[in-house]
Amino acid sequence: MKILGIETSCDETAAAVVEDGARILSHQIASQVAIHARYGGVVPEVASRQHLLAIIPVIERVMTEAKAGWNDLDGIAVTIGPGLAGSLLVGVNVAKVIALASRLPITGVNHLEGHIYANWLSGQCPSFPVVCLIVSGGHSDLVLMKDHGDYQLLGRTRDDAAGEAFDKAARILGLGYPGGPAIEQAASRGTATIQLPRAWLKGSYDFSFSGVKTALLRLVEAGQVSSVADAAASFQEAVVDVLVTKTIAAAREQKVKQILVAGGVAANRLLRQRLKENSPIPVLVPELILCTDNAAVIAACGYYRFRAGKTDGLDLDVVPNLRIA
Ligand code: KG4
Ligand code: ZN
Repeated sequence: MKILGIETSCDETAAAVVEDGARILSHQIASQVAIHARYGGVVPEVASRQHLLAIIPVIERVMTEAKAGWNDLDGIAVTIGPGLAGSLLVGVNVAKVIALASRLPITGVNHLEGHIYANWLSGQCPSFPVVCLIVSGGHSDLVLMKDHGDYQLLGRTRDDAAGEAFDKAARILGLGYPGGPAIEQAASRGTATIQLPRAWLKGSYDFSFSGVKTALLRLVEAGQVSSVADAAASFQEAVVDVLVTKTIAAAREQKVKQILVAGGVAANRLLRQRLKENSPIPVLVPELILCTDNAAVIAACGYYRFRAGKTDGLDLDVVPNLRIA
């Protein structure tokens, strides 16, 4: 089954053709990062305009690269949320036009659910039940997944998402945007010597990262940060410590077979390493390129939705604040 995936939820215009939810035949990402970097973050109206300019060429490229015509496809999967309404609308409307003109079935995919499917595209086949840590720019969710499409939310952030915290910390330290990779790079030159607070929220699998960010800001304002590299390493250490400890605790309590990690922050090497070192339960991590936003994961998730008969009509609409469970 060949699925065309389309993703335009934030600042990447992406398309991919994926076979049977596991083999990537082609995938392309037109990134807007350089444009938004000037403003220190994503500007929604600029993002939708860029999606409009990029979406058709990106889809044409993946179809050529996959050596596929519309007749070779079995369906279209498109992100409907969560994300920026104006950006999501570009992908959803283009997907509907192709579906109508080519008589192809369409399915709307939850972006966060899509992120999880990076784990099925990295040459690995997860075994249920799993606990999945989804950490992106907008979300930090700890989810119990018992089967395809069967999610139970165990915990979520009460304030900043993990990626958002990395982005804000990078801004505080003058490291630019996007903050996650910038913090990681600076941290590689430093040592985690500064003690920053961790919000454990005992008895809950929820997260909170605004305290550690504010503590960093206070230190910078007080002129107490002499090494940006050490501050970046200390911040990364504090965030990773909480993510790893809570994920392993949840996986043990739920007695799952594996732990999966997904979303942009899953690209963080310290997070990947610490989870693997400390977990008694096997940990699967996606390929780096599949952690951040892309359409291959949307196509993979779409494949399982089609298999379960979850086809949508042409009245499919965007849901900017969609949740996973
Ligand atoms: O999943 P994603 O590409 O987009 C959203 O759905 O939000 O995640 C983007 C987030 C950004 O906040 C970015 O700073 C963070 O993921 N990120 C990282 C790393 N690479 C991206 N955070 C920490 N370490 C990284 N290497
Ligand atoms: Zn994402």
